[in-house]
Amino acid sequence: MQQIEHIGIAVKNLEFSNALFTKLLGITPYKQEGVESEGVMTSFFQTGQTKIELLEATNSDSPIAKFIEKKGEGIHHIAFEVADILAEMERLKNEGFILLNETPKKGADNKLVCFLHPKGTNSVLVELCQSL
Ligand code: CO
Repeated sequence: MQQIEHIGIAVKNLEFSNALFTKLLGITPYKQEGVESEGVMTSFFQTGQTKIELLEATNSDSPIAKFIEKKGEGIHHIAFEVADILAEMERLKNEGFILLNETPKKGADNKLVCFLHPKGTNSVLVELCQSL
């Protein structure tokens, strides 16, 4: 795995949190993008080489809605950049990690992504992402 590509933060209200993080970071989001398959609207801030991804649920079945229900707002996942997502998925599977999706899926911000089950990663939801 390479650098931390982004940190995902679950928020209740994207408009409110966009304004909050704009004040906090002193920069505006460079992109807002919906991922329909995940039931989320996202917003990205570029902080050096790493990004902050804010995630708001767009329906009550969204993983973000469930996360907030259980844990409240806060850090949802850490995403690592990988050069070859298929190779990395294979490597991690062989190491005993549980993949939440068996094939890479299309994520926000032009990425192929795969999530690891937090059960096997000290309760940290880990995202692998490969730039398209
Ligand atoms: Co992410």
